[in-house]
This record gives sequence, structure tokens and C-alpha cells, in this order.
Amino acid sequence: MLVDEMLKLLLSIVLIVSSCFIPAVTRSCFALDEGGCLTCHQYPGLVRHEKTDGFRVLHIDEEKFFNSAHGKFSCRKCHVTIWKVPHTGETKVDCTTECHQNDAEKISTYPLNTLHQKEQSYILSLEDKSSCRVCHPLYPHSDNKLVRGFLNMHAGFMFCEVCHIKRGKFQHLTYEWKDTENATFSGEPFGTYYNPQTGKADKHDEHFISRIAAFAAEKGEKRSLINTRDIGKANEFVLKEKSLKPEEKKEKLAYFHQDIERKEISVACDECHSANSILNFSNLGFNEKKTKDLIYLNIKGLVTKYKTFYFPKLFAD
Ligand code: HEC
Ligand code: HEC
Ligand code: HEC
Ligand code: HEC
Ligand code: HEC
Repeated sequence: MLVDEMLKLLLSIVLIVSSCFIPAVTRSCFALDEGGCLTCHQYPGLVRHEKTDGFRVLHIDEEKFFNSAHGKFSCRKCHVTIWKVPHTGETKVDCTTECHQNDAEKISTYPLNTLHQKEQSYILSLEDKSSCRVCHPLYPHSDNKLVRGFLNMHAGFMFCEVCHIKRGKFQHLTYEWKDTENATFSGEPFGTYYNPQTGKADKHDEHFISRIAAFAAEKGEKRSLINTRDIGKANEFVLKEKSLKPEEKKEKLAYFHQDIERKEISVACDECHSANSILNFSNLGFNEKKTKDLIYLNIKGLVTKYKTFYFPKLFAD
């Protein structure tokens, strides 16, 4: 790990944490997020897929947490074992570090897994008529423990092709809003609603959102690259999948993925979250502040450069 990069990263976390004290900063701060945990956990839609019960929600709303019964405690008062990123499987909590020393019995029957329920927002379902979603779940990423939650969150912002299209195969690619779509949320609705009348992209509080799609220009005509043409074939594949020979299956999958490529994490974030973004944020209607936030995304380095990141003792409670 490069020492320089490590220092830059630390500095950015320190800045994020200390920015709470500067009144000019609009990000609302209610208490000090001493562990820097909310740097990552503040995002609605941060979800990972889980075989047993669907998915695990990793979002913690800052304001709701700080106003909750436990809001005056640092995250590590309970999450005593989290000292590095990633920390998949670190579910051990200790309720007795400061309180509950004398009510062990009561605590033992408390449904711990509901503790953050009111502080979490995520998309429950999204009407997505693409071939991709015939086979892939709403939260499609599961390989990389550090990045999968963040990638899954983007399912609420854009269609798969915006990241996965083979860019070399198409001419004059542009990225624009598709119509509004129905979505159901748990917790507070989030995401973006694009208003074609005002040309602005705003937070929306009803049950629909807008997502970004990829378009290509052919013979002067703009064509959406959302794959809807293979829905029938994909349904057929799913029905017959078990009876297919490995070779047949491979061949069919190659067909469904003919315009699709997997992306390297190390380059993926920068394609959009940088000054050379493939997205034209102002044309998409994002205001100046949001555009800056998206370009200079502070967690980018954390999730792209390090395999394991240890929290500095600076943040020890
Ligand atoms: C009062 C104790 C307490 C505090 C303070 C606390 N947590 Fe938790 N947290 C829990 C418990 C209990 C669970 C559920 C563990 C389980 O399911 O076994 C949990 C679960 C989680 C999960 C997993 C998702 C889930 O809902 O199961 C995340 C992520 C998390 N906490 C983040 C945080 C962050 C970030 C903070 C600080 C902003 C924080 N927690 C503060 C007790 C606490
Ligand atoms: C660099 C970003 C980042 C930071 C900082 C961070 N987390 Fe996480 N955390 C994640 C991601 C990503 C996951 C989901 C990992 C996965 O997909 O398996 C996660 C998962 C969790 C879980 C669920 C573990 C499980 O497997 O069920 C808990 C609890 C949690 N974090 C608490 C914390 C606490 C407490 C802090 C601060 C001390 C913290 N996190 C800081 C990114 C972060
Ligand atoms: C008929 C079912 C089906 C359809 C339709 C489908 N996929 Fe897949 N996809 C799969 C399966 C199964 C795998 C795992 C393949 C493997 O393990 O070789 C996969 C793998 C992938 C991968 C990972 C490839 C890799 O090299 O690791 C990506 C990315 C992907 N799909 C994206 C998409 C996108 C985007 C669409 C829509 C255009 C789509 N898929 C349509 C079934 C499908
Ligand atoms: C914000 C960009 C982005 C979007 C949007 C996106 N992906 Fe991905 N996807 C990636 C990146 C980056 C990787 C490589 C991750 C890795 O190597 O672990 C990936 C990997 C995958 C994989 C294989 C690895 C895994 O984690 O299981 C599948 C399957 C996949 N994507 C499917 C989809 C589908 C289906 C959609 C649409 C519903 C989609 N992706 C939307 C960026 C994206
Ligand atoms: C294809 C473009 C694209 C790629 C690739 C991409 N993002 Fe994003 N990301 C966006 C857009 C657009 C938004 C804002 C969506 C909205 O609010 O409507 C966003 C939002 C975010 C946010 C929330 C920021 C905020 O202030 O609300 C985080 C965090 C984030 N992305 C992390 C990542 C990481 C980490 C990667 C790489 C693994 C990545 N993104 C790859 C386009 C992308």
C-alpha cells in the first residue's frame, strides 16, 4: 500500500469527520461520527444479497440514528469488533459496554436485528423490463465484499448497460434519463426524479424514480441500448436451464451477453466519478453541489485501491 495514498485517504476521512464543526458545510451533523462509519453507511440503497433471506441492508441514516435512543453512542460502543474494512460477517455486538450491564435477561430476548430498522431505506422492488432482470436479481452484485453494496446501490440510479455496455462496439454513446419507473421503497424513498419541464434532477418523495440509460446514435437516430428484445428468449432459457448441456448453456449466455462486459473495479468508479466523467452531470440536471460531490466522491479511493483498510487508532473510542 502506498504511504502517500494512505495519508491522502486518512486526511479525507479526517476532513469529513471534522467538517461537522464548520457551519458553512451543508451536510447536517448531529453528533460526531467518531468511527467514520457513516462515510460509507450513510447511503440509502446500500444492500447486499444474501442467500438465506434475500438481502441485508447496510444503510444507516445519519439524522435518524442520531435522533434514536442510541444516537448518543458511537457505533463502536456496540460494534466492538470492527477495526478494518471490509468487515463482512462482523455481526457481533456488545450491549453492555456502557449500558444494560444489569438487564442481560431482557437484552437476550430483544430482537437485535430490528435495532436499525427505522434508520434504513432501500428499494424493495423496481419495475425493470429488461432481459437482464429476467435472470439477475434487483441487487445483482455479490463477488467483491468491499464494492458489491455500492454497486448494488447504483441499480436504483441507472440501467445495467450504463456500466456494462461494450463501449467500443457502439458509436456516439450518450447517457440520458429514461422515463420514470415504478419503485417500492422500504423506509424513505430516495433516488432521483428527472423533471423534463424544468430540466432539473430532484429528490422525489413518491413511488417512482428516474434512471439513467445508455443510448447510441445510428444513421442520425438515437437508439436506447436497454435490452428488451431478448426478454422472450431469456424467459425460455430460465424454463429450460436445468435440461441444458453445459456447452449449450455457455453458448446461450454468450448470446445474452454479446454487448456486455464485466468492468474492473479499479477503473469503473472513475468512468463516472471524475472530472472526465462519461456522464454530463449538468446536462443530466444535477446541480453544482451534487455534481461536485459526484466528481470528487471521497470514498472512491477507499473502495478501489485497498484490499483491506485498517481504521487508524485516531478513531479509537
Ligand atoms: C446500541 C448499539 C448499537 C449502536 C450504537 C450501533 N449499532 Fe449497528 N447494530 C446493532 C445491532 C444490535 C445490530 C444487529 C446485529 C445482528 O443482526 O445480529 C446492528 C447492525 C448493524 C448493521 C448491519 C445491518 C443490520 O441492520 O443488521 C450495520 C451496517 C450497522 N449496525 C452499522 C452501524 C453504524 C454505522 C452505527 C453508528 C452510526 C451503528 N451501527 C451503531 C447495534 C448498534
Ligand atoms: C469504507 C467503507 C466502510 C466504512 C468506513 C465502514 N463500513 Fe461497515 N460495511 C461497509 C460495506 C461495503 C459493508 C458490506 C460488506 C459486504 O457486502 O459484505 C459493510 C458492512 C457492515 C456491517 C454488516 C456486517 C455483516 O456482514 O453483516 C456492519 C455491522 C458494519 N458494516 C458496521 C460498521 C461500523 C460500526 C463502522 C465504523 C467503525 C463501519 N461499518 C465502517 C463499508 C464500510
Ligand atoms: C438468460 C439469463 C441471463 C440474461 C438474459 C442475462 N444474464 Fe448476465 N449472467 C447470467 C448468468 C447465469 C451469469 C453467470 C455466468 C457464468 O458464471 O459464467 C451471468 C453473468 C453476468 C455478468 C458477469 C460476467 C463475468 O464475466 O463475470 C455480467 C456483468 C452480466 N451477467 C450482466 C448482464 C446484463 C447487463 C444483462 C442484460 C443485458 C444480462 N447479464 C443478461 C444470466 C443472464
Ligand atoms: C455503477 C456501475 C454498475 C452498474 C449500474 C451495474 N454494474 Fe454490474 N458490475 C459493475 C462492476 C464494476 C463489476 C465488477 C465487480 C467485481 O469485479 O467484483 C460488476 C460485476 C457484475 C457481475 C459479476 C460480479 C458479481 O458481483 O456478481 C454481474 C453478474 C453484474 N455486474 C450484473 C449487473 C446487472 C444485471 C446490472 C443491472 C441490474 C448491473 N450489473 C449494473 C458495475 C456496475
Ligand atoms: C456509469 C456511471 C457510474 C459509475 C461507473 C459509478 N457511479 Fe457512483 N454514481 C453515479 C451517479 C449518476 C450517481 C448519483 C445518482 C443519483 O443521485 O441520482 C452516483 C452516486 C454514487 C454515490 C452516492 C453519492 C452521493 O453523494 O449521493 C456513491 C457513494 C457512489 N456513487 C460510489 C461509486 C463507486 C464506489 C463506484 C465504483 C465501484 C461508482 N460509484 C461507480 C454514477 C456512477
